[in-house]
Amino acid sequence: MAGSSAIAIRDLTGAALIAALDGLADLRIAVFRDFPYLYAGDRAYERDYLTAYAQSKGALIVGAFDGDRLIGAATAAPMADHASEFAAPFRERGMDIDDIFYFGESVLLPDYRGHGVGHAFFDRREARARELGFSHASFCAVVRPTDHPARPAGYSPLDAFWRKRGFAPVDGLIGEYGWRDVGSDAKTQHPMQFWLKSLTGRD
Ligand SMILES: CC(C)(COP(=O)(O)OP(=O)(O)OC[C@H]1O[C@@H](n2cnc3c(N)ncnc32)[C@H](O)[C@@H]1OP(=O)(O)O)[C@@H](O)C(=O)NCCC(=O)NCCS
Repeated sequence: MAGSSAIAIRDLTGAALIAALDGLADLRIAVFRDFPYLYAGDRAYERDYLTAYAQSKGALIVGAFDGDRLIGAATAAPMADHASEFAAPFRERGMDIDDIFYFGESVLLPDYRGHGVGHAFFDRREARARELGFSHASFCAVVRPTDHPARPAGYSPLDAFWRKRGFAPVDGLIGEYGWRDVGSDAKTQHPMQFWLKSLTGRD
């Protein structure tokens, strides 16, 4: 069992970020296989998806390491570089995606959970967003029905954690991402609820 003292957290940008992308793909494939993502890992999808971080000057990976091994990671990038397809629904709500630092994913191997790494992932991404002058941070999370057959008994969503971090879901702001679910033959679209936080305290 891992202990918190074994975990080192580092901000990765530039060449260090690029060097971490394969490890990030491995983590995404391992961690997102579980409910609620149920992602049937796909290397080609990973290469395509992770290119956005490699190409974005403002991108950040917060890496969690046990020795040299990447055992967790959280990602962020200017929303205009990473999720520009969602510009229109944000604009309809009076928001400009140029003001938003987008948090991509937080993935941590199960043995390392419960030691505050999830909070560190938010702290460091919010700090970078402020340094870069963004007024808001946003992320999205898959929406699954509460009676989904793959929902484990005793599953508890992360909503309370995200609210405690100052994020709130934006009513009706739901995007879509496509991937193949475990047990499915084909890629399907998945509704993704956007959450938003003001970094300036103004709204
Ligand atoms: C999200 C994740 C990185 C959090 O990691 P962590 O290091 O265990 O989180 P922390 O120890 O910092 O705990 C953060 C808070 O969330 C709560 N929390 C953590 N996991 C939880 C869960 N499964 N259900 C409910 N609350 C949870 C903790 O109790 C803690 O609350 P507190 O501040 O009141 O003590 C990790 O659970 C994970 O990889 N989950 C699977 C992937 C995922 O769903 N990612 C989020 C969407 S991209």
